[in-house]
Amino acid sequence: MPKILHFTDMHMRRSISGHSGFSERLSRKIPSLLNKLGEVIKIEKPDLIAVSGDLLDVPHDLLHRTSPAQLYAQTFDEALEDYTFLRVWLENLGVPFLVVPGNHDLAEPFERVFGGCPNTHQIRNWQAHAFPDWDGADSIAERQGDVLRRFEDVVQSKDNSGWAIHVQHYLIRPKVDFWHPMMYRNADYLFEKVQNSLQPKLLLSGHFHVGTDVERVGTNHFSVCPAIAEYPHPYRFYELLEDGTCTFEEHHLADGADKIHLLCIDRSDILTGESLDEKGEFVPVGQFNEIMEKATQAGFFPIMLSTWNHPQAVGFGWTEFRKRHDRLFATLGANVAPGGGQVLYIDPELPDSPSLPNAPIATFTPDLPQKIAAWFGSEIGSIAFITSAPHRKKIFSASGVRSICVNSSLEALEAIDLLSNDLKPKPGRN
Ligand SMILES: [Fe+2]
Repeated sequence: MPKILHFTDMHMRRSISGHSGFSERLSRKIPSLLNKLGEVIKIEKPDLIAVSGDLLDVPHDLLHRTSPAQLYAQTFDEALEDYTFLRVWLENLGVPFLVVPGNHDLAEPFERVFGGCPNTHQIRNWQAHAFPDWDGADSIAERQGDVLRRFEDVVQSKDNSGWAIHVQHYLIRPKVDFWHPMMYRNADYLFEKVQNSLQPKLLLSGHFHVGTDVERVGTNHFSVCPAIAEYPHPYRFYELLEDGTCTFEEHHLADGADKIHLLCIDRSDILTGESLDEKGEFVPVGQFNEIMEKATQAGFFPIMLSTWNHPQAVGFGWTEFRKRHDRLFATLGANVAPGGGQVLYIDPELPDSPSLPNAPIATFTPDLPQKIAAWFGSEIGSIAFITSAPHRKKIFSASGVRSICVNSSLEALEAIDLLSNDLKPKPGRN
């Protein structure tokens, strides 16, 4: 009985500096998670490994080629290095694998590293196919060209003796309605083709980070695995049975032993100045790198709480806002490793502050520490907070978070010493 391991949406940043635009994607943690997954694979010995896209978390402005040429060239090289790391990791497992790109992958370096890998495996009487699709300018993906022709050939096959597995990034089914497009533009056409074909099939997708259950329609099984980049770092095993049914189990790489220690730090006044520079960029304080490095060395995972309430910045919109954070974190380079650091976008607190449409922003309410603990796989007792605002300290303290209010970046450095003594995180656990 074929046994398939499926994981997706790593959003890895190993050589790529900076952090993901979404706080819950623990991009810098992926290499250590892959070590753990490698151990699982050695024990479970799957027949196939399916990786359904978003291997890397390439910054948005690089994906859309709007950043300066020099920065693009540098990230291109970093992406090449990260893809090579992943290919070597996969090859060393000694298990056939299929990999497709996602909308956060950079096409050229991806093709250079994975372009030569087989996109079909015939194993005993079953076949597995990778369908690498890319999204268009409107962020909606469409299967087209050679990939579409190959898909049509595959589903028209007269051979119905065993299972067929399809690996793809976007969704054909189940239908998912989300603020960002999840489905193929031609999902209905692809679905119809799949339904009209003879073999029982398992169609593996990623992209929708919360995932879905396996949906069975006739002899076809559609599975959207949740993102491994997010706590508790899920992956799935499927067993394909002779009678055309399939069983699946979801497991997690996180276990109770690796609860991380989080250090939340206000951006404004502590990590960056209050004003933006003439180009509209954040201006990091002189101690920005030192604070982030010190937090990391003390065993904390640093989270920058960033509010969006600067009148000058409102015209940028949400995407530009994230790009500015990407660029700010890119200056941290590999020094904040392996734990990385993240931004948590916080709603403006002032009633007349401008707000962003459709932005996945957290609100500074008493339940925020509990939410942060859930997103990052921590617990209240393992969260610390450095703020410049007494009322914020009050909110976090009331929830049981060890909080310190400081007046300067220098005081923030001293606060890290105090907090690391109080909470005793173990350096290197992140
Ligand atoms: Fe993703």
